[in-house]
Amino acid sequence: MGKSQNKERATFGSKLGVIFASVGSAVGLGNIWRFPYETGQQGGAAFILVYLICVLILGIPLVMAEFYLGRRSHANPVGAFRGLAPNTKWYLVGLMGVFSGVMIMGFYSVVSGWTFDYIFQALTGSLSDKTPEVFQKDFTAFSTNIYKPIIWVVIFMIITHVVIISGVKKGIERSAKIMMPMLFLIIVIMCIRSVTLPGGEKGLQFLFHPDFSKINSNVILGAMGQAFFSLSLGMGCLITYSSYFGPNVNLGKTAVTVALLDTMVAILAGVMIFPAVFSFGISPTQGPELVFITLPNVFQSMSFGYLWALLFFLLLGIAALTSAISLHEVTTSYMIEEYGLTRSAATSFVTITLIILGMICSLSVGAWSKFTIAGMNIFNLFDFISAKILLPLGGLWISIFVGWIVPYNDLKSELTNKGTLKFYGFNFYRFILRYFAPIAIILIFFNELGLISLS
Ligand code: TRP
Repeated sequence: MGKSQNKERATFGSKLGVIFASVGSAVGLGNIWRFPYETGQQGGAAFILVYLICVLILGIPLVMAEFYLGRRSHANPVGAFRGLAPNTKWYLVGLMGVFSGVMIMGFYSVVSGWTFDYIFQALTGSLSDKTPEVFQKDFTAFSTNIYKPIIWVVIFMIITHVVIISGVKKGIERSAKIMMPMLFLIIVIMCIRSVTLPGGEKGLQFLFHPDFSKINSNVILGAMGQAFFSLSLGMGCLITYSSYFGPNVNLGKTAVTVALLDTMVAILAGVMIFPAVFSFGISPTQGPELVFITLPNVFQSMSFGYLWALLFFLLLGIAALTSAISLHEVTTSYMIEEYGLTRSAATSFVTITLIILGMICSLSVGAWSKFTIAGMNIFNLFDFISAKILLPLGGLWISIFVGWIVPYNDLKSELTNKGTLKFYGFNFYRFILRYFAPIAIILIFFNELGLISLS
């Protein structure tokens, strides 16, 4: 049995701290790197529309389900299932979550490292006076280089390490309270700049005028995967954070606030990027390289370009850090509570493991790119398996567990803070968890795996 029922458990100091930390987890590379390029590749507004629907009817209910699991059990994902369903195999869902988190961090730390390099380049002025071809060539040379990206992975992981080792209040909460306001400020400034560029309307049209003929099963799976990834859903990250929530936190309201802010940042990232991209006549469909190759091009054509580039990559770096912190904490809390390690031993163990995985992912883009599984290098494989398979699968099990295994009154009591809050539509909420969410996930999932065909 784990040591998950620790009485002296840390909590976040305030409700604002809860929001900042949770939004910090949700807002990350997923919003500012992944969302814009997925939108660009999957047809713009139509993808965004499906994405919004996924957040509303699957995302928010599942965020609440994870919040329930965390605060009810006061434990890491494995301990949560162990505590709520003792002597069953449900703890395996938590274990799968810990495993997915480690996998996500493998490629997440690499992209975060690239971001740090770009901050450095913007500072030293090497992001200007280049032709588009040179930007492309330089990015490829950098990302396939053996040492440089790995050095940045190590730097990025050391910063994450320092925050995690400082604990829940002094590390996670305090860093989020500093970084999140900075992030919002930078986004607002950059959006204003982007939409006032001549020709920017075309970018807004691309974002907000849906072409419904573009919706197909691939777009739907992409949107669902993106919703899970962006909301930090399906692997127990929110279980871990909510295990630090105090008894007065309104779980429903917090879930809605986090989902709204997360979605807002994703859309604002689109507003920041696409008008600028269209204004300079560049194609929006570039894929993962969008922010690293296309955008520097855009920036250098703007006046004070180095400043915009610096602000943008700072933004991306901050967003990446607060999310990586939440991913790191999942495994760290698991090691502390299930194996009885001290925080510093657990943190060090996790940091070293993640650095090694980051190195492997980084090398798989360059020196080891010939080594592929199912046509993907390790970097892409980790992204694919975690976002498109493990997260939806985790979400599926979580909805089944909270919908079917957890007693009605137990769920209601936790979500209403023992009856002191109103929860209109609780039965409808439970219906979503019991029927709608599992069926929707299964349909979308099996359709994508080619086992059934919806269209
Ligand atoms: N949500 C973060 C982003 O958008 C990434 C992230 C943090 C995450 N924790 C997670 C993704 C847990 C999936 C699961 O970048």
